[in-house]
Amino acid sequence: MSLTQVLILLGAPGAGKGTQAVRLCAARSLAHISTGDLFRENLKKETALGKRAKGFMDAGQLVPDELVLEMLFDRVAKPDCRNGYLLDGFPRTIAQAEALEKRLGPSNRAGNHVTVLSLRVPESVLVERLTGRRTCSACGNIQHMLFSAPKIAGKCDKCGGALVQRSDDTVEVVKKRLEVYRAQTQPLEGFYSARKLLTEIDGHRGEDEVFRDLSARAFAALDGEAA
Ligand code: AP5
Ligand code: MG
Repeated sequence: MSLTQVLILLGAPGAGKGTQAVRLCAARSLAHISTGDLFRENLKKETALGKRAKGFMDAGQLVPDELVLEMLFDRVAKPDCRNGYLLDGFPRTIAQAEALEKRLGPSNRAGNHVTVLSLRVPESVLVERLTGRRTCSACGNIQHMLFSAPKIAGKCDKCGGALVQRSDDTVEVVKKRLEVYRAQTQPLEGFYSARKLLTEIDGHRGEDEVFRDLSARAFAALDGEAA
């Protein structure tokens, strides 16, 4: 039976997970699974799950594990995930990581079943990235008012759709999200490091430079070249 390759992108809010995930998945035809995006889609469609998640998201808190796990496991059971998928924003707690490990089974010895890439960015930079982020309401393209400024004000460079600010990208909510990240998500670095699955990437560089480094590690793992 062939292994399902799972890439996990770890990183604080604003570290560049979504930006890099889109590029990695396009390069290798992987399914891009962002739990944040899945909740936002549910919110848009006004589903019961979306309504339950909204209060947590607006407060900068994590959505309870049981809601996340059910949604995530439903999603990765879809046919487009059969050969491999990239997780962006999941897992976010030790309990989520344990549930994923249980579902996938132990990683093989070469570590190329599950590969965890952690984007490291100083906290002072994260606040500026998040408060200046704008996302296309039509195609989801991620831009930044300064670092990838739109060519036409307020319009997406890719499709011309309206660029909007995420409701959890205010200074107050960002501070809370960073606090929650330190307390509940950062311990995952130790969890995956103990399993020899973790590679750290310097995410405080230009988007292209980060992509070169990240994709080299990711593709080596997908191609079974991981040490
Ligand atoms: P989610 O949507 O996952 O948000 P997040 O983890 O806080 O991460 P972000 O999407 O804010 O940042 P990113 O790393 O993707 O950065 P991006 O590439 O956009 O989750 C939202 C909420 O949903 C959570 O708070 C929680 O409530 C809930 N949730 C989701 N998953 C959950 C889970 N598993 N369990 C429980 N709750 C969950 O980049 C940011 C900005 O920086 C952009 O403007 C971009 O253009 C710019 N940028 C990117 N790279 C660079 C670069 N190299 N140089 C300069 N600028 C850059
Ligand atoms: Mg994101």
